[in-house]
Order: sequence, then C-alpha cells, then structure tokens
Amino acid sequence: MIDFDKPIERRASGCSKWTRFAADVLPMWVADMDFAVAEPILAAIRARLEHPVLGYGVSQAGLKDRIVGWLAAQYGWQVPAEAIVPLPGVVPGFNLALRATCAPGAGVVVQTPVYPPMLKAPENWALRRLDAPLTATVEVDMAALRDALGQARGGAFLLCNPHNPTGRVFRRDELVAMAEACLAAGVAIVSDEIHCDLLFDGRRHVPVAALGPEVAAQTITLMSAGKTWNIAGLNACWAVVPDAALRARFARAIASVADHVNILGLVATEAALAEGEPWRRAALAYLQANRDWLAGAVAARLPGVRMALPEGTFLAWLDCRGSAAAADPQAFFLQKAKVGLNPGPDFGPPGAGFVRLNFGCPRATLEEGIGRMAVALAQG
Ligand SMILES: Cc1ncc(COP(=O)(O)O)c(C=O)c1O
Repeated sequence: MIDFDKPIERRASGCSKWTRFAADVLPMWVADMDFAVAEPILAAIRARLEHPVLGYGVSQAGLKDRIVGWLAAQYGWQVPAEAIVPLPGVVPGFNLALRATCAPGAGVVVQTPVYPPMLKAPENWALRRLDAPLTATVEVDMAALRDALGQARGGAFLLCNPHNPTGRVFRRDELVAMAEACLAAGVAIVSDEIHCDLLFDGRRHVPVAALGPEVAAQTITLMSAGKTWNIAGLNACWAVVPDAALRARFARAIASVADHVNILGLVATEAALAEGEPWRRAALAYLQANRDWLAGAVAARLPGVRMALPEGTFLAWLDCRGSAAAADPQAFFLQKAKVGLNPGPDFGPPGAGFVRLNFGCPRATLEEGIGRMAVALAQG
C-alpha cells in the first residue's frame, strides 16, 4: 500500500533539496525525505481546499486535543491543552524561546556538532554562544556541559534531542544529568525534539520536560509533524510550555513576530496525528532498513569513512577524516561523485572532516549515492 521504493521526480516541484545543485548531482542533504506524504494527510489538505477562502488560520481545539493525546500515548507525558502553543516552525520557535528565557548578554549552551540554525540563534539576540561539544563517541561530556552552563548566567541550554547531525537519542539517565545540571546553574532549557517520532530499534522518546515538574517549569519544548510525516514545507509546529508564567513570557516574545501558522499546516498536523500512525510505522521500518544497509555499505565500500549507527532521524554523520576525501569531504563528493551532502563544518568546529548524509529516500537512490561515492574514493 505504501511504496517507499517508488522514485518520485521532485526537480520541477519547486523544492529546495533538488534545486540547490546542478542537474547531474544527486542531492542527499537538507532534512526532508523523498517520500510521498501519507494519503490521509493529502486528503485532509484537499478537503480544506474545497473551501475557497485561505485567510489567517487559528488552531482549533481539536488540534490541541490531538497533540495532548499524542504526547500522552507516545511518551506518557500528561500536559493540559493550554500548554500547547502552535508556531510557524521550530527554528522560529527556538529563536523566540531564547528571547523569552534569556537575560540580555546571557549565554546559550549548544552541544556541537549541531544543527546550524542553533549555532546562529544566540547571535540573533546578541547572546553569547557557549559550546559544550559531545565526546568523540557522541556521548554527553558532562564536565564540558557543566562548565558551559556555569558561564551562561541567566541564559539557556539549547538541547537537540534526537540530536542532529549525530543521530544520538539521549537516554533517560543522560537527560536527567543534563536537566539537573541546568537546574543547578539556574539555566532554562529550550528543547528541540523535532525528530523524536523517528527512533530506531524500539527506542521510546523521553521529552526532557517530562522528567519532573521542576524541569517542566523551566523548559520550552518544540515538536512538529514536519520531519516525521515529511510535511516540513507546510510550516507548522507546536511548543509545549507547561509553566503559565514562562508561557506568558513566550507569548510576548511571539506576539507580532510569529503569530500565524500556515492554515494547511494546521490541517495537515491534525491529520498526521489522527491518521498518520500506519504511515509513520511503515516509514520507520523503511528508514531503519536503509540505515542498516547504509552502515554496511559505508564499512564495506567507503574506505576510511566511519559512521556511528544513528539511533533516530534519517541523517547519517560520516567521519571522512581517514579517507581520501579528508581535506574537504563535501567538495570532494560534490565534485568527484556528484553527490550533494551537508558540509560538516556548518555544524560547528567538531564537524571538520565530516559530512551529513540524508538517507530518507528510496533504497535505489541511496544505493546510487553510495555507488557514486565509492567510485570517487577508489579513484582518489
Ligand atoms: C533539529 C532541527 N530543528 C529544526 C528543524 C527545522 O524546523 P522547522 O522547519 O520547523 O523550522 C530541523 C530541520 O532540519 C532540524 O533538524
């Protein structure tokens, strides 16, 4: 019924992924998938388009109830409907969350390598970026984190869980340690959990704010149907802010900046949560099989390239430092393999010698990309 193997021509569809590079380049970069959206979501959008007026939208009670139900069913996280704040995107969401939580000149802690807009966000508000790099084995370096939190002074910890680009899904004990360190330092938590419904090997997502009321009171969590159901271009997401005072501060930060959410995005999000579970489960199984195939192919066919197995997301973080592509792997694979990847340095200093590869595509596309990269490395 759901055919993820089916290639879909996207070049003429006005999408970013297939427009950035020349026609002979296979794009495996930006984080959207080359899969058709689930039929119930498309049907809900089509039904909404039967009404000919597309003025400003409002999130109906039905959507908030769906979100509340999703949080309870998926993660055992109970929040009241008023804690849900619809937004036009997770990136605007975490930027405005920093505006709401940080004192002037405060520090914002990020765990590098990390999603590039998170590196940029502090400077958008004249805040200080404080890097707490993950370890070489992509574990949390608690000493580095505590040190950075100690310098944040009235600032925030910008958490990315699941972590882009490494694919780490932080364990409960890691989250507890990080949250306790934030409480001890008096630092708010802004938690980007956009990838949290795509976890492999039966993992269950733990929202950091669900660890306890003290953590929830100082946390703004950002979630979305955008990655999971491949509707990122519809610009709709939601924040969960259980604490009324923090929510009021967040509302003030949002007002007159990001009040309106895409009306089709609201419809699509509600349909995804209501009827998208069969598609999500099928996509997850397909992505996990792609991940496993990719890990085997990298080990067997890309000499000197190493890849830690992503625990979630459809992103692989390839360490090319031991390969013929080491100097500038993004340029190497673009020029010699005609494969378009994200350059590691965009994710902060630990990204030198790495590239990020998106395996959210039909297996044949993935095989084509790895085949091209293998030939390029063999030719040196
Ligand atoms: C960690 C993370 N946050 C946010 C986004 C983008 O979110 P949005 O399109 O809702 O702004 C992405 C997209 O790749 C992402 O990986």
